[in-house]
Amino acid sequence: MDSDIDRILYDHDRILGRVRELGRDIAAHYADLEAPLTLVPILSGSIIFVADLIRELPLKMRIAMLQLSSYPGTATSPAQDPATLIELTGPVSGRHVLIVDDILDTGNTLRRVRRMLLDRGAASLRTAVLLRKPNKAPTDVPVDFVGFDVEDLFVVGYGLDYNDLYRNYPHIGVLRPELMP
Ligand code: XMP
Repeated sequence: MDSDIDRILYDHDRILGRVRELGRDIAAHYADLEAPLTLVPILSGSIIFVADLIRELPLKMRIAMLQLSSYPGTATSPAQDPATLIELTGPVSGRHVLIVDDILDTGNTLRRVRRMLLDRGAASLRTAVLLRKPNKAPTDVPVDFVGFDVEDLFVVGYGLDYNDLYRNYPHIGVLRPELMP
């Protein structure tokens, strides 16, 4: 895998350090919450992030997952209106919800998920993303906790894929351009 990566943006240790800080911020935000928090990780890109993040959150929590398709096939431009592939696996009505996603790019995915969770009666809604492309992120999609702001490059690793590959690459990096048609 290493030979497919053009350059590393964030190495694994740096990511883990930042996830630990995010965990502290999120735990402080919900410190007075008496009910359990419901995390909604968006599959599949957030799997590694959420696995590390929840172990930094000493809160009572439930998890309800959901999968949307953002990138049909080998495309590297997000779909305008992502389709639901796996329905939300648990209830959110009356619950305090934290969406967890890998990256805020065009915002189409989070806009849609936010609308769905509010329509289903979430009592409160916050969002944590590991990465944000700040020059693209739309202003109508609020995010409350951000790991890193990244350049507008297609990135892989730590859960992020290209054509469903590289999710297990421990760092976040940019693929060699000739590997992405
Ligand atoms: P949008 O554009 O809806 O994107 O904010 C959200 C989802 O698209 C995927 N995505 C990426 N995946 N490298 C990836 O591997 C990227 O640079 C990238 N940009 C967006 C990702 O699944 C995200 O949740």
